[in-house]
Amino acid sequence: MPRSQAETANSFHDFEPDDQDFLSAILKGLSQPQKFIASKFFYDEAGSQLFEAICQLEEYYPTRTELGILERHKGEMAALAGSQCHLVEFGSGSSIKVRILMDALDKPLVYVPIDISRDHLALSAADFARRFPAVTVAAICADYTSDFELPPITDGQYVGFYPGSTIGNFTPEDATGFLRRVKNKLNGGGFLIGVDLVKETAILNAAYDDKKGVTADFNKNLLHRCNRKLAANFDLTQFDHRAFFNETESRIEMHLVSTCRQDVTISGRCFSFEAGESIHTENSYKYTIGGFQELALNSGFTPVKVWTDADQLFSVHYLAAD
Ligand code: TRP
Repeated sequence: MPRSQAETANSFHDFEPDDQDFLSAILKGLSQPQKFIASKFFYDEAGSQLFEAICQLEEYYPTRTELGILERHKGEMAALAGSQCHLVEFGSGSSIKVRILMDALDKPLVYVPIDISRDHLALSAADFARRFPAVTVAAICADYTSDFELPPITDGQYVGFYPGSTIGNFTPEDATGFLRRVKNKLNGGGFLIGVDLVKETAILNAAYDDKKGVTADFNKNLLHRCNRKLAANFDLTQFDHRAFFNETESRIEMHLVSTCRQDVTISGRCFSFEAGESIHTENSYKYTIGGFQELALNSGFTPVKVWTDADQLFSVHYLAAD
C-alpha cells in the first residue's frame, strides 16, 4: 500500500517494490536458459552504499568525469532549463550531482527525486530539503520504469535529470521505450542525461572490475539479498564476479559465475548451476555521441546540446521534449 506523509509542503510517496516482487523476479530470472537478475535489485540499502563506494573508486571514471562536466557547464545547462523549473531526477540516490545544478538554476520550484531504495531516498530528500529550503521536495519511492504521476505544474517546465549513464543499463531497445515514456511525462520540457562513451577496452574493464573488489561485493550483494530476504542459501564463496566489455554489443556485461556444480534453494525451489555457468546481472551500454543522439531522436526527443570532457570519456546531453 502506498503511504504518503505530508506534514509540510514536502511529500514522500512510497511504492517501493516488496519482497514478493523481488521473489517473483528472482524465480523467473533464474528459470531462464541464461539466468539473470534485473539490476534494479542491486539497490537495497547495502547495495546503495556499495554503489556510492564504487563512485569514489580510482578506476570508476564516470562519476568524477560527469561531475566535472556539470560543474563546468552548469550555467549553460541552467539557461536551457529556464526559470522556475521542476527538476525530476530518475534514480536520485544521494542527490549529490543535482546540487551542482541547483547552484546555477534560476528560482527552481520543485525537486522530484525518484528512487527505488526507500530509506536511502528519505534521508537524501530530507538532506536536500535542509540545503535548499526554498525548493519544494516531492519524493517518490518507485521503480522509475513503472508508471507514476509527476506533481502537477503551473509555472516553469519539467526538466528531467538522469545522470550516471544509467540509460546504459537498458538495452538500446528498452532505452528507446523508456525515453519515449519519459518524453511524454516531461510534457514539452527538457531532459539532461549523462551517457558514457565508447573507449579503450582496458579502461572500461577496469571501471567494472576494480582492484579493491568493491564492484565484486556490489554484484554479490544480490546473492546476499536473496539469502537475507528470500530464504535462499547461496554460498558467496562459490560465485565469482566477472565483468568484461562485449565489443559486438558495445556493452559491459556483469556476471556472477558459479565456480562449481551446485544446487541452490530459494524459498523452497531448487536451482542447479553447472561449473562456469553464470547469472547475468547487468549490462552497461557505451555509446558514441552520434549513436546516442540517434537513439534520442528515435525516442521523440530533439538533441539540443552536448557537453563532454577533454578526454571524451563521458557526455552530458540536453534533449528537448517538444
Ligand atoms: N549505471 C552504472 C554504470 O553502468 C551502474 C554501475 C556501475 C554498476 N558499476 C556497476 C552496476 C557495477 C552494476 C555493477 O556504470
